[in-house]
Amino acid sequence: MSTRKTTIDHFAIDVETGLRTTPKFLSSKYFYNTEGDRLFQKIMAMPEYYLTNAEEEILFEQADDIRIAFGNQPLDIIELGAGDGSKTKFLLKNLVDNNVDVRYIPSDISSNILAELQSNFAKEIPKLKVITLAGDYFKSLVKLPDSANRKRVLLFLGANIGNLEKKHAVEFIGELKEFLNPGDSMMIGFDLKKDPQTILDAYNDSSGITAAFNINLLSRINVELDADFNIDQFSHWERYNPETGAARSYLVSRKKQKVTIGAIEQTFEFEAWETIRMELSQKYSIKDISELAENAGYKLTEQFIDGRGYFVDALFEIPT
Ligand code: AVJ
Repeated sequence: MSTRKTTIDHFAIDVETGLRTTPKFLSSKYFYNTEGDRLFQKIMAMPEYYLTNAEEEILFEQADDIRIAFGNQPLDIIELGAGDGSKTKFLLKNLVDNNVDVRYIPSDISSNILAELQSNFAKEIPKLKVITLAGDYFKSLVKLPDSANRKRVLLFLGANIGNLEKKHAVEFIGELKEFLNPGDSMMIGFDLKKDPQTILDAYNDSSGITAAFNINLLSRINVELDADFNIDQFSHWERYNPETGAARSYLVSRKKQKVTIGAIEQTFEFEAWETIRMELSQKYSIKDISELAENAGYKLTEQFIDGRGYFVDALFEIPT
């Protein structure tokens, strides 16, 4: 059985479950096909999407402080969802320039993007040892090289943690302890609670790129699962609840309609104005973050915050 087949099976099962549930939902983890990657890169370049700049500023301007917080010892820096590594590069350059004995172990679901990372890093930081791990989070972590006499630092940047419901974030971060020893640490990027309008604007851009990013999942289902979503009859709707910190996207059916998914030979009915819940982008306060650290069995030791107070890269340590 090819991997592609398994992927489609999981995809079909998850789509079927989501569309059979009331209210309907689809998982944002399926946003990232080739077109989804391209749209996400456009999102990162939008002026409204402050997250990218804020974290880049932290990793560039506070690289000395981050290096000092990691400690002067041999390091294995393991990054979950590394992508092309373009933001992490600033920090890694600083470590190499300061003669830290460091190995960089980026992991990503896309082996394509890791190949790109590898050739780019070979040019830009030739002295850095890079060991790539393709696969999803836990599958790649079991393949980690031995870190004897080296401190492991897990990186989970870019506010990717925001896609998890808060209680799932605690479980996920807690489970990662399996790969860490006392004294090891984890640096996590969180988008902070802020002016609700600033958050809404980041996920509701006037150019419609975020809308296209969400609708692209319906197009993907059309192509890969032989479905007939009429994408013109669904609109993107964003909501931010400042009480809970949850920014959520929805697709709204503009009329009563039926959608057939050929791959599973099933039809789904939509009422007029019925919703499909798409993505969660959870926002945190510093207090929320220290509670998360504690509930997952870590100590929050450092907070690197950008100049506008929009974003934090927080250092979680396994108590010794
Ligand atoms: C990649 C999950 C961090 O939630 O901000 C951007 C994805 N969705 N615009 C986020 C996203 C809509 C992004 N993460």
